[in-house]
Amino acid sequence: MSDILGDWKRTHFCGELRKEHIGRQVCLMGWVHRRRDHGGLIFIDLRDRTGIAQLALDPDRDPEAHAKAEAIRNEFVIAAIGTVSPRPQGTVNPKMPTGEVEIEISELRILNIAKTPPFMLDEFTEVAENLRLKYRYLDLRREAIQKNLILRHQVAQTVRSYLTDNGFLEIETPMLTKSTPEGARDYLVPSRVNLGNFYALPQSPQLFKQLLMVSGFDRYFQIVRCFRDEDLRADRQPEFTQIDCELSFVDRDDVMAVMEGMIAKVFKSAINVDVILPIPRLTFAEALDRYGVDNPDLRFEMELVNLTEIVKDSGFKVFAEVAAKGGLVKALNAKGCATFSRKELDGLTDFVAIYGAKGLAWVKIQEDGSWQSPIAKFFTTQELASIGAALDAQPGDLLLFGADKPAVANEALGRLRGHLGNKLGLANPNSYKFAWVTDFPLLEWDGEERRHVAVHHPFTAPLDEDIPLLDTEPGKARAKAYDLVLNGSEIGGGSIRIHNQAVQSRMFNLLGIGEEEAQQKFGFLLDALEYGAPPHGGIAFGLDRVMMILTGAGSIRDVIAFPKTQKATCLMSEAPGVVDEKQLRELGIRLAAPSQQKQS
Ligand code: AMO
Ligand code: AMP
Repeated sequence: MSDILGDWKRTHFCGELRKEHIGRQVCLMGWVHRRRDHGGLIFIDLRDRTGIAQLALDPDRDPEAHAKAEAIRNEFVIAAIGTVSPRPQGTVNPKMPTGEVEIEISELRILNIAKTPPFMLDEFTEVAENLRLKYRYLDLRREAIQKNLILRHQVAQTVRSYLTDNGFLEIETPMLTKSTPEGARDYLVPSRVNLGNFYALPQSPQLFKQLLMVSGFDRYFQIVRCFRDEDLRADRQPEFTQIDCELSFVDRDDVMAVMEGMIAKVFKSAINVDVILPIPRLTFAEALDRYGVDNPDLRFEMELVNLTEIVKDSGFKVFAEVAAKGGLVKALNAKGCATFSRKELDGLTDFVAIYGAKGLAWVKIQEDGSWQSPIAKFFTTQELASIGAALDAQPGDLLLFGADKPAVANEALGRLRGHLGNKLGLANPNSYKFAWVTDFPLLEWDGEERRHVAVHHPFTAPLDEDIPLLDTEPGKARAKAYDLVLNGSEIGGGSIRIHNQAVQSRMFNLLGIGEEEAQQKFGFLLDALEYGAPPHGGIAFGLDRVMMILTGAGSIRDVIAFPKTQKATCLMSEAPGVVDEKQLRELGIRLAAPSQQKQS
């Protein structure tokens, strides 16, 4: 089959031909994007990953090539030799980079035929995502998604060169490993040679990168696949890619400084955006207080206001009772939204209910300054004035209130803030507002398991000044952890680690992890900490999430070549699939229930 190309060698990519090439003989190879018959003349838009070139076939110049062109259909693979020529006057297409030239074809070969694709491969046709994912190899021919993947490659290259220039070494860590501590469910892989034993696919290279620090590699990075069996959302995939880094002999400021340099370089080279350094910082407590969430969208204000003090003695029982029980009454001012209909308000109430809110009280400030609200009657004039002043209430504004346990009040109003920001178009898509969120709590209480769990992971160090709290009020201790937040998305997270075995054991104690369990799960790390572990810390960025923001993609699937659906399936390869009885037998596995019908 090799002689299908014969001595033909591609000389150029389709998208690179310009006026300067006029007069040159070129050989192009690619896919037929479109064929147009103009009486005798046939035009073919030939496509490769660089763009489209217009081929012109004239029956008088080469009847044989012209005859072949008549049989050509969209997506045929062809090769063509011809001369680059100026397009005739009036036919120049300024919208196409190659729009000033066409190639007068003298010879043409059909390299392969193609069935009619199940959907149009242009940029204009809306195609159902399930169909796109089933024929992903065709979907990937479309310009928009090709651009995303090309940019992804460029970002990976920028990251590699920046980190290499800053003394980081790229080192691979195992995929077949033991359970890691990031807190999601593991994907398990049965071992055939060790029946009844399972590997876990890594949720992150966390333990291995810490061990590399113990070994003295000092600065490590890896662009690495991670696996988490968790409920999927718009910005989550069961397998995703981290830019994973670890450094020795550093504190938080060192890690943040070198990493924000990388982020600035990526944003400049990928989309020509200047990130102003240093990136502002916000403590976790401040983020929750002002925005209700630890990943706030800082492109707009609409900050939450804590009204608990003002309303704690008020006649509105709901608020007074919440305040008496240690809860929070918070509110935000949706400027100019007093025109919202009853239905829209009900919609917002339904929205906050997703986060457990029991209601959403509201006030519309009328043009004459009076308050229209089901709850205004419960407050004194003085209370109303204080609420109005705290929220800077002006005629035309809509005030929205949540009262609940602190976690619920914050999350419900924080999410509502994000929702309104998008709905009202306050979040400018061309603006990039970064922030480091620091001083996360070290632990949180898991009501179900009735024990503390690590907020980041069990190897994160407490703030030095909070170490005494570990003995008295561990729930109040803060961690040397930091997240990088961009436009409401957590794009990275990391911490300074515990490098001292005694502190690590104390931490496991606090987490209710017994010595035996700790040894069984992370024994190799605990052992390593006893052989001269340097102070160290690191971070991991979600490359897919960064790419979503850089490309403006609405879905994480649009920046991944072969993504999974929300049900963790691949519609193209149909993974996961049932396996042969023989394979299962070899692995010593018997199914307790018949295989289920897959959902897409
Ligand atoms: P963490 O669990 O915070 O930290 O993960 C780091 C970053 O990875 C991205 N991310 C995801 N992206 C897509 N789909 C997912 N399912 C998904 N889960 C996480 C996020 C997140 O900020 N080992 C630590 C890092 C460290 O401490 O150095 C870790 O994995 O952008
Ligand atoms: P009710 O007295 O239950 O009719 O509530 C009056 C108003 O207060 C309604 O708009 C409710 O949505 C709102 N509301 C009730 N509970 C809460 C709460 N926990 N937080 C905020 N608003 C609430």
